[in-house]
Amino acid sequence: MATTKSKKAPSKTNRPRGAIRKKANVNSSPTRARRTTTRRVPWEHLGHPSTGVVVTGGASGIGEACALHLAEAGRPVAIWDIDKKGAERVADECAARFRVPTIGLGLDVSKSKGFAAALSSSLKALGQIGGLVHAAGIAGAVQVTMLDDESWDAVLDVNLRAAAILTKELTPSLLDAGPGSAIVYLSSIEAFFGHDFLPAYSASKAGLLGLTRSAAHTLGPHGIRVNAVCPGAVDTPLLAPLLEIEGQRADLERRTPLQRLAVPDDIAKVVRFLLSDEAGYVSGASLVVDGGLTAISGI
Ligand SMILES: NC(=O)c1ccc[n+]([C@@H]2O[C@H](COP(=O)([O-])OP(=O)(O)OC[C@H]3O[C@@H](n4cnc5c(N)ncnc54)[C@H](O)[C@@H]3O)[C@@H](O)[C@H]2O)c1
Repeated sequence: MATTKSKKAPSKTNRPRGAIRKKANVNSSPTRARRTTTRRVPWEHLGHPSTGVVVTGGASGIGEACALHLAEAGRPVAIWDIDKKGAERVADECAARFRVPTIGLGLDVSKSKGFAAALSSSLKALGQIGGLVHAAGIAGAVQVTMLDDESWDAVLDVNLRAAAILTKELTPSLLDAGPGSAIVYLSSIEAFFGHDFLPAYSASKAGLLGLTRSAAHTLGPHGIRVNAVCPGAVDTPLLAPLLEIEGQRADLERRTPLQRLAVPDDIAKVVRFLLSDEAGYVSGASLVVDGGLTAISGI
């Protein structure tokens, strides 16, 4: 059968092959002109609902970093901390740097009766509340043989009971705020390891994982996600007493596969992710953020 050579499509221009194409005049194209005037959403706002977030323990360390990262993502923030001045300072910084509505309140989260008033002022200041980060926490270093009711309750009330009661108190607001509402509890890798001086702390952090799963079960059908973050060693005032012991910092750095302690930003970025729609199918999870420490040992 005779083959026929396909005819070359006629060239639309007389430009020789390989010649550099003349740059189109972008302003001559109506589509392009329209595109250049479209307002771009800053990357850090992507996937974030515009609703406010309550951050307990937001006056220091991980909570403070969470408040700043959430504000950077365009979210109004309410800082609830027993340190009133610290809460106000962080609220002011979030407002000044990221121009979001904020409020800083002095509140002891171990006293549930203060929650209703704090919530009411926060709703007034932020409009809607679609997120909770429970970062308030204390270590309460006492060996099990030295424990009494008071020292046990002090740790459990702040670290665990407050998380549960806050969840209950904030649920109506999270539901009102609509799809995308989410909760993150700051647990710890101590949830998985025993520690000579931290029995109450370890128990509270392990308890938070149980609370995470149960609350995810109850709130999931209503579109509210609940997750826990389990940091390793983070360089904050909470860890200072341990890090002041000679050789401890270097030892922790050496034993961590990533060869450094975490800074609060390392944890806040994960919390911010869990509160965003990017994590829209993550619920009931416990996310370890420890530079690889629990892959080989504990603190
Ligand atoms: N630093 C670490 O290595 C580490 C590791 C794992 C988990 N965590 C957890 O992360 C969370 C934040 O810890 P951090 O390291 O940022 O500590 P931090 O001491 O820097 O901050 C804790 C904040 O909680 C506030 N707070 C304490 N008691 C309170 C109360 N009764 N009511 C309201 N606020 C109260 C404090 O004023 C402080 O601002 C804690 O839950 C902690 O257990 C920390």
